[in-house]
Amino acid sequence: MAYYSRLVGCGSYLPEKLLTNDDLAKIVDTSDEWISERTGIKQRYIAAEGQLTSDLAREAALKALDYAGVKASDLDLIVLGTTTPDDTFPATAVKLQAQLGMTGGAAFDLQAVCSGFIYALSVVDSMVRAGQAKTALVIGAETMSRILDWEDRGTCVLFGDGAGAVVVRAENGIGENEPRRNLRRGILSTHIHSDGNYRDILICSGGVSSTGQAGVIKMAGKEVFRHAVNNLTDVVLEALAANNLAAADIDWLVPHQANQRILESTRRKLGLDANKVVLTIDKHANTSAASIPLALDTAVRDGRIQEGDLVLMEAMGGGLTWGAALARW
Ligand code: ACO
Repeated sequence: MAYYSRLVGCGSYLPEKLLTNDDLAKIVDTSDEWISERTGIKQRYIAAEGQLTSDLAREAALKALDYAGVKASDLDLIVLGTTTPDDTFPATAVKLQAQLGMTGGAAFDLQAVCSGFIYALSVVDSMVRAGQAKTALVIGAETMSRILDWEDRGTCVLFGDGAGAVVVRAENGIGENEPRRNLRRGILSTHIHSDGNYRDILICSGGVSSTGQAGVIKMAGKEVFRHAVNNLTDVVLEALAANNLAAADIDWLVPHQANQRILESTRRKLGLDANKVVLTIDKHANTSAASIPLALDTAVRDGRIQEGDLVLMEAMGGGLTWGAALARW
């Protein structure tokens, strides 16, 4: 049997509370002009007091299940990419498992910061192809507002909260070595990387075994920027080469929404039209692992991404971690 992963549904959720750049300018010494010019961000959504990562994830998951026409009882796997879990343990994914009413299978969290969704998709795809999962939820959900230093204007202006999810179903058919595999609807390939030598340039230091507290985000912005541009270009080219595809074949680039200038640089290096890039950074800011499924869901529901379109997703985050996934919607 040759299984592959079909993407059969998506959903997303943003908390109600909106925080604009002008609102932020009342908290720290910043301006709409500075934030917009350097990052492309205009606003972000912030989870309400008591609203947890699992709450955001559940809303996104329910929408994705509804879109796919899949019942929670049919799921046999949930992988949740998050760096802001509800509790130290158990995993936020098992809380969701119970809340959704999924009884069997397995559920676990995956920590790869902003690359969390790509990593989760990669793990799920591998399990599907190995015959270990048939119907899976892949989620990226974050409450980044809880690990921000609201006095540090260099970081607190960059992030937001939110969640996105896709439903993956195992299909039996066009296998890895068959000539028409590039045309199958589903995941064509995933590629993940990390380099712990750069762990200090983007870090939320603290945690269970060090300080006992979660800590706040610290970032060497310029260095992160430089690595992001290089690593993202490399991994995108790696994904295209692995599938014998050219940049011109891509219908949509759905990047992790970290900074408009990083996205623009990857787009230019690929020679893609600006109107082939799904941009949500202006409205959502950087929602870490949630940003790609949030952007994907936005473009599917507004009709830009159509059945059969080739979608390239890419991300880089703390670790450093980075990765890409190529899929036909
Ligand atoms: N408002 C106003 N001024 C600010 C702000 C702010 N919010 N933040 C910093 N500044 C000031 C600094 O204090 C500094 O002032 P100084 O010259 O008087 O010392 C000046 O602006 C320039 O600061 P830099 O940090 O050098 O600004 P830079 O041009 O590097 O832009 C930014 C900062 C936007 C963070 C940029 O480095 C960047 O985008 N890096 C990528 C990091 C990123 O996207 N991280 C997201 C997480 S990682 C990921 O998802 C890939």
